[in-house]
Amino acid sequence: MAKEKEKITQELGVNDQTPREIVAELDKYIVGQDEAKKSVAIALRNRWRSHKLPDEMRDDVIPKNILMIGSTGVGKTEIARRLAKLVKAPFIKVEATKFTEVGYVGRDVESIIRDLAQTAVRMVRKQRTEEVKEKAAANAIERLLDVLVPEPKRSQNPLGKLFGNADSDATPAVEEDTKKPGREFVRKRLLAGKMEDQVIELEVADHAKPMVGMFSGSSLEGMGDNLQDMVSSLMPKRMRKRKVTVATARKILEQEEAEKLIDMEEVSETAVELAERSGIVFLDEIDKVAVKGSSSGPDVSREGVQRDILPIVEGSTVMTKYGPVKTDYILFIAAGAFHTAKPSDLIPELQGRFPIRVELKSLLKADFEKILTEPQNALLKQYKALLQTEGLALDFRADAIERIADLAEHVNEQSEDIGARRLHTLLEKLLEQISFEAPDMVKDGKTEVVIDAAYVDERLKDIAKNRDLSQFIL
Ligand SMILES: Nc1ncnc2c1ncn2[C@@H]1O[C@H](COP(=O)(O)OP(=O)(O)OP(=O)(O)O)[C@@H](O)[C@H]1O
Ligand SMILES: [Mg+2]
Repeated sequence: MAKEKEKITQELGVNDQTPREIVAELDKYIVGQDEAKKSVAIALRNRWRSHKLPDEMRDDVIPKNILMIGSTGVGKTEIARRLAKLVKAPFIKVEATKFTEVGYVGRDVESIIRDLAQTAVRMVRKQRTEEVKEKAAANAIERLLDVLVPEPKRSQNPLGKLFGNADSDATPAVEEDTKKPGREFVRKRLLAGKMEDQVIELEVADHAKPMVGMFSGSSLEGMGDNLQDMVSSLMPKRMRKRKVTVATARKILEQEEAEKLIDMEEVSETAVELAERSGIVFLDEIDKVAVKGSSSGPDVSREGVQRDILPIVEGSTVMTKYGPVKTDYILFIAAGAFHTAKPSDLIPELQGRFPIRVELKSLLKADFEKILTEPQNALLKQYKALLQTEGLALDFRADAIERIADLAEHVNEQSEDIGARRLHTLLEKLLEQISFEAPDMVKDGKTEVVIDAAYVDERLKDIAKNRDLSQFIL
Protein backbone atom coordinates (compact mmCIF):
# COMPACT_ATOMS: atom_id res chain seq x y z
CA MET A 1 0.00 0.00 0.00
CA ALA A 2 2.79 2.36 0.97
CA LYS A 3 4.58 1.51 -2.26
CA GLU A 4 1.44 2.13 -4.21
CA LYS A 5 0.90 5.48 -2.56
CA GLU A 6 4.45 6.51 -3.27
CA LYS A 7 4.01 5.69 -6.91
CA ILE A 8 0.83 7.70 -7.20
CA THR A 9 2.38 10.68 -5.48
CA GLN A 10 5.21 10.61 -7.94
CA GLU A 11 2.94 10.36 -10.91
CA LEU A 12 0.99 13.30 -9.66
CA GLY A 13 3.83 15.48 -8.62
CA VAL A 14 6.55 15.22 -11.18
CA ASN A 15 6.69 15.77 -14.90
CA ASP A 16 8.85 13.26 -16.65
CA GLN A 17 9.29 15.18 -19.86
CA THR A 18 12.83 16.15 -20.73
CA PRO A 19 13.69 19.84 -20.71
CA ARG A 20 13.56 19.79 -24.49
CA GLU A 21 10.07 18.36 -24.46
CA ILE A 22 8.86 20.93 -21.97
CA VAL A 23 10.25 23.74 -24.08
CA ALA A 24 8.57 22.26 -27.14
CA GLU A 25 5.28 22.28 -25.26
CA LEU A 26 5.71 25.94 -24.30
CA ASP A 27 6.73 26.74 -27.87
CA LYS A 28 3.23 25.94 -28.97
CA TYR A 29 1.95 29.04 -27.23
CA ILE A 30 4.82 31.40 -26.64
CA VAL A 31 7.01 32.94 -29.28
CA GLY A 32 10.70 33.40 -28.50
CA GLN A 33 11.79 33.92 -24.87
CA ASP A 34 13.91 30.81 -25.16
CA GLU A 35 15.98 31.57 -22.12
CA ALA A 36 12.98 31.81 -19.82
CA LYS A 37 11.48 28.63 -21.20
CA LYS A 38 14.79 26.88 -20.77
CA SER A 39 15.28 27.76 -17.14
CA VAL A 40 11.73 26.81 -16.30
CA ALA A 41 12.21 23.49 -18.06
CA ILE A 42 15.44 22.86 -16.17
CA ALA A 43 13.75 23.65 -12.87
CA LEU A 44 11.04 21.12 -13.63
CA ARG A 45 13.57 18.52 -14.61
CA ASN A 46 15.48 19.12 -11.42
CA ARG A 47 12.32 18.20 -9.58
CA TRP A 48 12.30 14.89 -11.37
CA ARG A 49 15.99 14.38 -10.64
CA SER A 50 15.72 15.11 -6.95
CA HIS A 51 12.86 12.64 -6.65
CA LYS A 52 15.26 9.96 -7.82
CA LEU A 53 17.80 10.71 -5.12
CA PRO A 54 18.11 8.72 -1.91
CA ASP A 55 16.12 10.33 0.88
CA GLU A 56 19.01 11.62 2.95
CA MET A 57 20.46 13.50 0.01
CA ARG A 58 17.16 14.66 -1.36
CA ASP A 59 16.49 16.55 1.83
CA ASP A 60 19.45 18.78 1.15
CA VAL A 61 18.54 19.61 -2.40
CA ILE A 62 16.45 22.71 -2.27
CA PRO A 63 15.01 24.08 -5.50
CA LYS A 64 16.63 27.10 -7.12
CA ASN A 65 14.00 29.75 -7.44
CA ILE A 66 13.69 31.75 -10.64
CA LEU A 67 13.20 35.45 -11.20
CA MET A 68 11.89 36.42 -14.64
CA ILE A 69 12.50 39.96 -15.68
CA GLY A 70 11.04 41.54 -18.77
CA SER A 71 9.09 44.59 -19.74
CA THR A 72 5.34 44.50 -19.91
CA GLY A 73 3.55 42.31 -22.44
CA VAL A 74 6.42 40.05 -23.39
CA GLY A 75 4.99 36.81 -22.09
CA LYS A 76 5.81 36.44 -18.39
CA THR A 77 2.30 35.76 -17.24
CA GLU A 78 1.63 33.78 -20.37
CA ILE A 79 4.47 31.41 -19.50
CA ALA A 80 2.94 30.96 -16.05
CA ARG A 81 -0.48 30.23 -17.49
CA ARG A 82 0.85 27.63 -19.87
CA LEU A 83 3.05 26.12 -17.22
CA ALA A 84 0.04 25.71 -14.99
CA LYS A 85 -1.61 23.50 -17.59
CA LEU A 86 1.57 21.59 -18.25
CA VAL A 87 2.80 20.62 -14.80
CA LYS A 88 1.38 17.71 -12.92
CA ALA A 89 2.31 19.35 -9.65
CA PRO A 90 0.13 21.62 -7.57
CA PHE A 91 0.65 25.03 -9.07
CA ILE A 92 -0.69 28.41 -8.16
CA LYS A 93 -0.14 31.86 -9.50
CA VAL A 94 -0.57 34.90 -7.32
CA GLU A 95 0.04 38.59 -7.73
CA ALA A 96 2.35 39.98 -5.09
CA THR A 97 0.33 43.19 -5.15
CA LYS A 98 -2.58 41.33 -3.64
CA PHE A 99 -0.80 41.35 -0.33
CA THR A 100 -0.17 45.04 0.15
CA GLU A 101 -1.50 46.47 3.36
CA VAL A 102 -2.28 43.25 5.12
CA GLY A 103 -5.18 43.50 7.47
CA TYR A 104 -6.74 46.32 5.56
CA VAL A 105 -7.43 45.34 1.97
CA GLY A 106 -4.59 42.92 1.43
CA ARG A 107 -4.49 39.22 2.10
CA ASP A 108 -2.38 37.31 4.46
CA VAL A 109 0.66 35.96 2.64
CA GLU A 110 0.29 32.53 4.17
CA SER A 111 -2.88 32.13 2.15
CA ILE A 112 -0.59 31.33 -0.80
CA ILE A 113 0.40 28.12 0.87
CA ARG A 114 -3.13 27.38 2.01
CA ASP A 115 -4.29 27.76 -1.59
CA LEU A 116 -1.49 25.53 -2.76
CA ALA A 117 -2.51 22.85 -0.26
CA GLN A 118 -6.07 23.20 -1.44
CA THR A 119 -4.97 22.69 -5.03
CA ALA A 120 -3.01 19.62 -4.01
CA VAL A 121 -6.02 18.21 -2.21
CA ARG A 122 -8.15 18.74 -5.27
CA MET A 123 -5.61 16.90 -7.40
CA VAL A 124 -5.26 13.95 -5.08
CA ARG A 125 -9.00 13.73 -4.58
CA LYS A 126 -9.50 13.70 -8.32
CA GLN A 127 -7.03 10.89 -8.64
CA ARG A 128 -8.64 8.90 -5.85
CA THR A 129 -12.07 9.47 -7.35
CA GLU A 130 -10.75 8.04 -10.57
CA GLU A 131 -9.52 5.01 -8.67
CA VAL A 132 -12.87 4.26 -7.04
CA LYS A 133 -14.89 5.24 -10.09
CA GLU A 134 -16.11 1.78 -11.00
CA LYS A 135 -17.10 0.88 -7.49
CA ALA A 136 -18.85 4.21 -7.04
CA ALA A 137 -20.73 3.72 -10.29
CA ALA A 138 -21.92 0.29 -9.21
CA ASN A 139 -23.08 1.65 -5.85
CA ALA A 140 -24.83 4.51 -7.55
CA ILE A 141 -26.82 2.09 -9.69
CA GLU A 142 -27.97 0.28 -6.56
CA ARG A 143 -29.10 3.53 -5.00
CA LEU A 144 -30.86 4.56 -8.16
CA LEU A 145 -32.68 1.26 -8.10
CA ASP A 146 -33.66 1.93 -4.49
CA VAL A 147 -35.38 5.08 -5.70
CA LEU A 148 -36.86 3.59 -8.84
CA VAL A 149 -37.96 0.35 -7.24
CA PRO A 150 -38.49 1.19 -3.58
CA GLU A 151 -38.63 -1.39 -0.83
CA PRO A 152 -42.10 -2.93 -0.74
CA LYS A 153 -42.59 -1.68 2.82
CA ARG A 154 -42.86 1.79 1.52
CA SER A 155 -45.66 0.48 -0.59
CA GLN A 156 -45.07 1.57 -4.09
CA ASN A 157 -45.73 -0.24 -7.26
CA PRO A 158 -42.45 -0.50 -9.15
CA LEU A 159 -44.18 -0.69 -12.45
CA GLY A 160 -46.24 2.37 -11.64
CA LYS A 161 -43.06 4.35 -11.15
CA LEU A 162 -41.56 2.81 -14.20
CA PHE A 163 -44.30 3.96 -16.43
CA GLY A 164 -44.09 7.49 -15.20
CA ASN A 165 -46.95 7.19 -12.75
CA ALA A 166 -45.04 8.84 -9.94
CA ASP A 167 -47.98 9.37 -7.61
CA SER A 168 -48.81 5.75 -7.17
CA ASP A 169 -47.96 5.86 -3.47
CA ALA A 170 -51.31 4.53 -2.54
CA THR A 171 -50.82 1.15 -4.18
CA PRO A 172 -50.83 -1.60 -1.59
CA ALA A 173 -47.62 -3.33 -0.62
CA VAL A 174 -46.17 -5.65 -3.18
CA GLU A 175 -45.26 -9.14 -2.18
CA GLU A 176 -41.61 -9.71 -1.30
CA ASP A 177 -40.92 -12.04 -4.23
CA THR A 178 -42.41 -9.72 -6.86
CA LYS A 179 -39.89 -7.09 -5.85
CA LYS A 180 -36.88 -8.99 -7.13
CA PRO A 181 -37.85 -9.38 -10.77
CA GLY A 182 -38.97 -5.76 -10.78
CA ARG A 183 -35.59 -4.60 -9.63
CA GLU A 184 -33.74 -6.78 -12.12
CA PHE A 185 -36.03 -5.69 -14.92
CA VAL A 186 -35.45 -2.03 -14.13
CA ARG A 187 -31.74 -2.64 -13.76
CA LYS A 188 -31.55 -3.99 -17.29
CA ARG A 189 -33.39 -1.03 -18.69
CA LEU A 190 -31.25 1.32 -16.66
CA LEU A 191 -27.99 -0.23 -17.80
CA ALA A 192 -29.19 -0.18 -21.38
CA GLY A 193 -29.59 3.55 -21.02
CA LYS A 194 -33.29 3.47 -21.67
CA MET A 195 -34.32 5.52 -18.68
CA GLU A 196 -31.93 8.44 -18.83
CA ASP A 197 -34.57 11.11 -19.35
CA GLN A 198 -37.08 9.91 -16.79
CA VAL A 199 -37.54 12.39 -13.98
CA ILE A 200 -37.24 11.14 -10.42
CA GLU A 201 -37.18 12.74 -7.02
CA LEU A 202 -33.84 12.52 -5.28
CA GLU A 203 -32.78 13.43 -1.77
CA VAL A 204 -29.61 15.45 -1.98
CA ALA A 205 -27.44 17.09 0.64
CA ASP A 206 -27.88 20.82 0.77
CA HIS A 207 -24.45 22.23 0.12
CA ALA A 208 -25.20 25.87 0.74
CA LYS A 209 -22.71 27.15 3.27
CA PRO A 210 -24.40 29.68 5.46
CA MET A 211 -21.25 31.60 6.37
CA VAL A 212 -19.56 31.94 3.02
CA GLY A 213 -17.77 35.19 2.51
CA MET A 214 -17.95 36.38 6.05
CA PHE A 215 -14.21 36.40 6.50
CA SER A 216 -13.03 36.73 2.96
CA GLY A 217 -10.42 39.35 2.31
CA SER A 218 -9.31 39.61 5.88
CA SER A 219 -6.45 37.89 7.58
CA LEU A 220 -8.99 35.85 9.47
CA GLU A 221 -9.73 34.18 6.21
CA GLY A 222 -7.87 30.97 6.90
CA MET A 223 -9.50 30.69 10.25
CA GLY A 224 -12.82 31.42 8.62
CA ASP A 225 -12.36 28.40 6.41
CA ASN A 226 -11.62 26.16 9.32
CA LEU A 227 -14.50 27.53 11.28
CA GLN A 228 -16.85 27.03 8.40
CA ASP A 229 -15.80 23.44 8.01
CA MET A 230 -16.13 22.84 11.69
CA VAL A 231 -19.57 24.32 11.85
CA SER A 232 -20.83 22.50 8.81
CA SER A 233 -19.46 19.20 10.05
CA LEU A 234 -21.21 19.71 13.37
CA MET A 235 -24.53 20.52 11.84
CA PRO A 236 -26.59 17.62 10.62
CA LYS A 237 -26.52 17.42 6.85
CA ARG A 238 -29.52 19.21 5.55
CA MET A 239 -31.27 17.23 2.88
CA ARG A 240 -33.62 18.51 0.31
CA LYS A 241 -35.58 16.95 -2.50
CA ARG A 242 -34.72 17.68 -6.07
CA LYS A 243 -36.46 16.62 -9.23
CA VAL A 244 -33.81 15.39 -11.60
CA THR A 245 -33.47 13.12 -14.59
CA VAL A 246 -32.04 9.68 -14.09
CA ALA A 247 -28.91 10.79 -15.94
CA THR A 248 -28.31 13.67 -13.53
CA ALA A 249 -29.23 11.56 -10.54
CA ARG A 250 -26.64 9.01 -11.51
CA LYS A 251 -23.98 11.70 -11.63
CA ILE A 252 -24.96 13.04 -8.23
CA LEU A 253 -25.05 9.60 -6.68
CA GLU A 254 -21.74 8.57 -8.21
CA GLN A 255 -20.21 11.66 -6.68
CA GLU A 256 -21.70 10.90 -3.28
CA GLU A 257 -20.65 7.29 -3.40
CA ALA A 258 -17.13 8.21 -4.45
CA GLU A 259 -16.91 10.57 -1.50
CA LYS A 260 -17.89 7.75 0.82
CA LEU A 261 -15.24 5.47 -0.63
CA ILE A 262 -12.41 7.96 -0.39
CA ASP A 263 -10.43 8.26 2.78
CA MET A 264 -10.19 12.02 3.15
CA GLU A 265 -7.58 11.77 5.85
CA GLU A 266 -5.29 9.90 3.50
CA VAL A 267 -6.04 12.45 0.78
CA SER A 268 -5.05 15.32 3.08
CA GLU A 269 -1.84 13.59 4.11
CA THR A 270 -0.83 12.78 0.56
CA ALA A 271 -1.77 16.24 -0.62
CA VAL A 272 0.31 17.97 2.02
CA GLU A 273 3.26 15.83 1.05
CA LEU A 274 2.65 16.60 -2.59
CA ALA A 275 2.46 20.33 -1.98
CA GLU A 276 5.62 20.23 0.09
CA ARG A 277 7.67 18.16 -2.34
CA SER A 278 6.39 19.29 -5.70
CA GLY A 279 4.41 22.50 -5.22
CA ILE A 280 5.16 25.45 -7.48
CA VAL A 281 4.22 29.03 -6.69
CA PHE A 282 4.31 31.67 -9.37
CA LEU A 283 4.68 35.11 -7.80
CA ASP A 284 3.67 37.60 -10.45
CA GLU A 285 4.18 41.38 -10.31
CA ILE A 286 6.94 41.02 -7.76
CA ASP A 287 8.44 44.32 -8.93
CA LYS A 288 5.35 46.13 -7.67
CA VAL A 289 6.37 45.42 -4.09
CA ALA A 290 9.97 46.50 -4.59
CA VAL A 291 10.83 49.95 -3.30
CA LYS A 292 13.36 52.37 -4.53
CA GLY A 293 15.51 54.24 -2.05
CA SER A 294 14.26 55.12 1.41
CA SER A 295 10.82 54.01 2.35
CA SER A 296 7.86 55.88 3.69
CA GLY A 297 4.11 55.84 3.25
CA PRO A 298 2.78 53.09 1.00
CA ASP A 299 6.35 51.89 0.49
CA VAL A 300 6.43 50.67 4.03
CA SER A 301 3.66 48.26 3.33
CA ARG A 302 5.34 47.09 0.15
CA GLU A 303 8.49 46.33 2.00
CA GLY A 304 6.27 44.71 4.57
CA VAL A 305 4.94 42.39 1.91
CA GLN A 306 8.47 41.37 1.02
CA ARG A 307 9.22 40.68 4.66
CA ASP A 308 6.06 38.63 4.88
CA ILE A 309 6.94 36.65 1.77
CA LEU A 310 10.51 36.03 2.89
CA PRO A 311 9.93 33.29 5.48
CA ILE A 312 7.70 31.43 3.08
CA VAL A 313 10.28 31.49 0.32
CA GLU A 314 13.03 30.77 2.76
CA GLY A 315 11.33 27.78 4.27
CA SER A 316 8.88 27.79 7.12
CA THR A 317 5.82 25.91 8.19
CA VAL A 318 2.35 27.16 7.42
CA MET A 319 -0.72 25.81 9.13
CA THR A 320 -3.44 24.78 6.76
CA LYS A 321 -6.64 22.96 7.40
CA TYR A 322 -5.06 19.86 5.91
CA GLY A 323 -2.14 19.99 8.27
CA PRO A 324 1.13 21.90 8.57
CA VAL A 325 2.91 22.48 5.24
CA LYS A 326 6.67 22.94 5.11
CA THR A 327 7.64 25.37 2.39
CA ASP A 328 11.33 24.45 2.09
CA TYR A 329 11.02 22.48 -1.12
CA ILE A 330 8.37 24.51 -2.86
CA LEU A 331 9.62 26.03 -6.09
CA PHE A 332 9.03 29.76 -6.45
CA ILE A 333 9.06 31.51 -9.78
CA ALA A 334 8.77 35.27 -9.50
CA ALA A 335 8.19 37.64 -12.38
CA GLY A 336 8.13 41.36 -12.82
CA ALA A 337 8.57 44.08 -15.39
CA PHE A 338 10.94 46.08 -13.18
CA HIS A 339 10.27 49.27 -15.09
CA THR A 340 10.97 51.63 -12.24
CA ALA A 341 12.32 49.39 -9.53
CA LYS A 342 15.21 47.03 -10.17
CA PRO A 343 15.72 43.55 -8.78
CA SER A 344 18.30 45.11 -6.49
CA ASP A 345 15.52 47.21 -4.95
CA LEU A 346 14.05 44.09 -3.44
CA ILE A 347 15.19 43.50 0.11
CA PRO A 348 18.54 41.69 -0.03
CA GLU A 349 17.31 38.60 1.76
CA LEU A 350 14.66 38.10 -0.87
CA GLN A 351 17.02 38.76 -3.77
CA GLY A 352 19.23 36.02 -2.48
CA ARG A 353 16.40 33.55 -2.59
CA PHE A 354 15.99 33.94 -6.35
CA PRO A 355 19.37 32.86 -7.65
CA ILE A 356 18.32 32.21 -11.23
CA ARG A 357 17.64 35.37 -13.20
CA VAL A 358 16.27 35.28 -16.69
CA GLU A 359 15.55 38.20 -18.91
CA LEU A 360 12.72 38.21 -21.38
CA LYS A 361 13.46 40.13 -24.52
CA SER A 362 11.49 42.97 -25.97
CA LEU A 363 9.39 41.81 -28.88
CA LEU A 364 10.17 42.97 -32.39
CA LYS A 365 8.49 42.83 -35.75
CA ALA A 366 9.45 39.26 -36.55
CA ASP A 367 8.11 38.11 -33.18
CA PHE A 368 4.87 39.95 -33.72
CA GLU A 369 4.34 38.27 -37.07
CA LYS A 370 4.72 34.91 -35.40
CA ILE A 371 2.55 35.82 -32.43
CA LEU A 372 -0.21 36.85 -34.81
CA THR A 373 -0.23 33.59 -36.69
CA GLU A 374 1.68 30.72 -35.14
CA PRO A 375 0.64 29.81 -31.60
CA GLN A 376 -2.33 27.54 -31.07
CA ASN A 377 -5.25 29.93 -30.91
CA ALA A 378 -3.10 32.79 -32.15
CA LEU A 379 -4.78 36.17 -32.30
CA LEU A 380 -5.68 36.09 -35.97
CA LYS A 381 -7.10 32.61 -35.59
CA GLN A 382 -9.29 33.91 -32.79
CA TYR A 383 -10.63 36.80 -34.82
CA LYS A 384 -11.25 34.56 -37.80
CA ALA A 385 -13.15 32.06 -35.72
CA LEU A 386 -15.20 34.78 -34.04
CA LEU A 387 -16.34 36.31 -37.30
CA GLN A 388 -16.88 32.93 -38.85
CA THR A 389 -19.70 32.47 -36.38
CA GLU A 390 -21.45 35.27 -38.27
CA GLY A 391 -20.75 33.51 -41.54
CA LEU A 392 -18.01 35.93 -42.52
CA ALA A 393 -14.60 34.62 -43.55
CA LEU A 394 -11.61 36.84 -42.89
CA ASP A 395 -8.71 36.43 -45.26
CA PHE A 396 -5.55 37.94 -43.82
CA ARG A 397 -2.96 38.33 -46.56
CA ALA A 398 0.74 37.98 -45.78
CA ASP A 399 1.42 41.62 -46.56
CA ALA A 400 -1.25 42.67 -44.07
CA ILE A 401 0.29 40.60 -41.33
CA GLU A 402 3.67 42.10 -42.01
CA ARG A 403 2.20 45.57 -41.93
CA ILE A 404 0.44 45.01 -38.62
CA ALA A 405 3.65 43.69 -37.06
CA ASP A 406 5.53 46.63 -38.44
CA LEU A 407 3.07 49.11 -36.99
CA ALA A 408 3.13 47.36 -33.63
CA GLU A 409 6.87 47.70 -33.43
CA HIS A 410 6.67 51.30 -34.55
CA VAL A 411 4.03 52.36 -32.05
CA ASN A 412 5.82 50.50 -29.24
CA GLU A 413 8.95 52.44 -30.08
CA GLN A 414 7.43 55.86 -30.25
CA SER A 415 4.99 55.78 -27.39
CA GLU A 416 5.41 52.99 -24.88
CA ASP A 417 6.61 49.43 -25.22
CA ILE A 418 3.68 47.32 -24.15
CA GLY A 419 4.89 44.27 -26.03
CA ALA A 420 2.38 41.94 -27.61
CA ARG A 421 -0.48 43.78 -25.95
CA ARG A 422 -0.01 46.32 -28.73
CA LEU A 423 -1.30 43.75 -31.16
CA HIS A 424 -4.57 43.55 -29.30
CA THR A 425 -5.17 47.28 -29.51
CA LEU A 426 -4.12 47.44 -33.15
CA LEU A 427 -6.32 44.55 -34.19
CA GLU A 428 -9.33 45.87 -32.33
CA LYS A 429 -9.00 49.14 -34.15
CA LEU A 430 -8.29 47.45 -37.48
CA LEU A 431 -11.33 45.23 -37.30
CA GLU A 432 -13.67 47.62 -35.57
CA GLN A 433 -15.74 48.37 -38.62
CA ILE A 434 -15.92 44.79 -39.80
CA SER A 435 -16.88 43.63 -36.32
CA PHE A 436 -19.68 46.14 -36.24
CA GLU A 437 -21.01 45.51 -39.70
CA ALA A 438 -20.47 41.77 -40.03
CA PRO A 439 -24.13 40.74 -39.61
CA ASP A 440 -25.25 43.32 -42.19
CA MET A 441 -22.51 42.32 -44.59
CA VAL A 442 -23.56 38.70 -44.43
CA LYS A 443 -27.17 39.69 -44.95
CA ASP A 444 -26.15 41.56 -48.09
CA GLY A 445 -24.54 38.41 -49.40
CA LYS A 446 -20.93 39.20 -48.59
CA THR A 447 -19.23 36.19 -47.07
CA GLU A 448 -15.55 37.04 -47.30
CA VAL A 449 -13.38 40.02 -46.52
CA VAL A 450 -9.82 40.28 -47.72
CA ILE A 451 -7.48 42.14 -45.42
CA ASP A 452 -4.33 43.24 -47.17
CA ALA A 453 -1.68 45.85 -46.53
CA ALA A 454 -3.76 48.51 -48.23
CA TYR A 455 -6.65 47.86 -45.87
CA VAL A 456 -4.34 47.99 -42.84
CA ASP A 457 -2.91 51.29 -44.04
CA GLU A 458 -6.34 52.70 -44.66
CA ARG A 459 -7.55 51.86 -41.19
CA LEU A 460 -4.40 52.39 -39.13
CA LYS A 461 -1.62 54.26 -40.80
CA ASP A 462 -2.68 57.79 -39.97
CA ILE A 463 -3.25 56.96 -36.38
CA ALA A 464 -0.04 55.02 -36.04
CA LYS A 465 2.09 57.73 -37.60
CA ASN A 466 0.59 60.43 -35.47
CA ARG A 467 2.27 60.16 -32.12
CA ASP A 468 -0.35 62.10 -30.17
CA LEU A 469 -3.24 60.21 -31.66
CA SER A 470 -1.69 56.80 -31.21
CA GLN A 471 -1.01 57.44 -27.57
CA PHE A 472 -4.70 57.60 -26.97
CA ILE A 473 -6.11 55.18 -29.46
CA LEU A 474 -3.60 52.38 -29.80
N1 LIG B 1 6.24 35.80 -26.50
C1 LIG B 1 4.92 35.77 -26.67
N2 LIG B 1 4.35 34.83 -27.47
C2 LIG B 1 3.02 34.81 -27.62
N3 LIG B 1 2.16 35.64 -27.06
C3 LIG B 1 2.65 36.60 -26.26
C4 LIG B 1 4.05 36.69 -26.02
N4 LIG B 1 4.27 37.73 -25.19
C5 LIG B 1 3.07 38.22 -24.90
N5 LIG B 1 2.08 37.56 -25.55
C6 LIG B 1 0.67 37.87 -25.48
O1 LIG B 1 0.52 39.20 -25.00
C7 LIG B 1 -0.38 39.31 -23.91
C8 LIG B 1 0.30 39.83 -22.69
O2 LIG B 1 1.33 38.98 -22.26
P1 LIG B 1 1.63 38.67 -20.72
O3 LIG B 1 0.37 38.73 -19.94
O4 LIG B 1 2.41 37.43 -20.65
O5 LIG B 1 2.53 39.90 -20.35
P2 LIG B 1 3.51 40.09 -19.10
O6 LIG B 1 4.89 39.81 -19.58
O7 LIG B 1 3.03 39.28 -17.97
O8 LIG B 1 3.37 41.63 -18.83
P3 LIG B 1 3.15 42.44 -17.43
O9 LIG B 1 4.50 42.77 -16.92
O10 LIG B 1 2.43 43.67 -17.86
O11 LIG B 1 2.36 41.58 -16.53
C9 LIG B 1 -0.95 37.93 -23.74
O12 LIG B 1 -2.22 37.87 -24.38
C10 LIG B 1 0.00 37.00 -24.45
O13 LIG B 1 -0.70 35.94 -25.06
MG1 LIG C 1 2.00 39.76 -16.23
